[in-house]
Amino acid sequence: MKEIRIFTPASVANVSCGFDVLGFCLAPVGDEMVIRMTDKQGVKITKIEGQDLPLDVKRNVAGVAAQAMLAKHPANCGFEIEIYKKIKAGSGIGSSAASAAGAVFGINELLGKPYNTHDLIQFAMEGESVASGSAHADNVAPVLLGGFTLVRSINPVDVIKLPSPSELMAVVLHPKIELKTMHAREILKNNVTLKKAITQWGNLAAFISALYTEDYGLMSRSLVDEIVEPMRSLLIPEFETIKKAVLNAGALGFGISGSGPSVYALAKGVDTSNNIAEAMKSKIEQLGIDFEIHVSAINNQGIKIISD
Ligand code: HSE
Repeated sequence: MKEIRIFTPASVANVSCGFDVLGFCLAPVGDEMVIRMTDKQGVKITKIEGQDLPLDVKRNVAGVAAQAMLAKHPANCGFEIEIYKKIKAGSGIGSSAASAAGAVFGINELLGKPYNTHDLIQFAMEGESVASGSAHADNVAPVLLGGFTLVRSINPVDVIKLPSPSELMAVVLHPKIELKTMHAREILKNNVTLKKAITQWGNLAAFISALYTEDYGLMSRSLVDEIVEPMRSLLIPEFETIKKAVLNAGALGFGISGSGPSVYALAKGVDTSNNIAEAMKSKIEQLGIDFEIHVSAINNQGIKIISD
């Protein structure tokens, strides 16, 4: 029986200036999945460990993504999926994206790669939309492609992989409260003023330019979100206090990871990143909320095959 075991990583979406279009992939935290080819057609989720998530393929993001792919590319075999969750659902570091992207990546490998990795984004995105109520690719794209990605369009899918400056690191604080992406999207207003839109696209364009030129000062000036952060930060305990402490510790920027409640900082170098982690720890400990902190290089590979 053919099977593949993969590591499918967590990711940070939005990155302050790029709501729904910018994201990057983390290294130390992610799920494992086993995808197995079977004689019987169809997709079955046979095991989920670490989280209480539905095995029903119509309600599980991995099942929905896998079925979307097989609807476009029928196979005369079936697939069993096992998911070993390490990324908590509702944590804001791409839990559903890891499962959706992992499922289509694994099936594609077992089928002898009928699709390239860019093509898989559309199927993973269909799974992701089950979790968040609307399609967005800013988590699934970096999980599949690695590094930083820019989603120019989701219909048709047009995604660009961006460079990751060598010394750039991320620090992610996950306060263990659950915030559903669907809810965090519902609270957003549909309109923005022209003034704010100008600020946002100036910052996004500048941040992308800074990734190419490794201009850390420009990255820092560009990590600003005047549109979504003011609304969503209200859902995160002591967001402004933590932000101040993290920027004082030398972060290039700080903001909400995806739809929260996780928050992230970008920094130059390991020492500054460790200082930022300490600053986050001291603030969150005062709140008495259970938490996890991840200090991570930018994961330029994305999903990794553990064994096949
Ligand atoms: N761009 C999405 C949002 C990411 O912020 O709603 C969710 O992880």
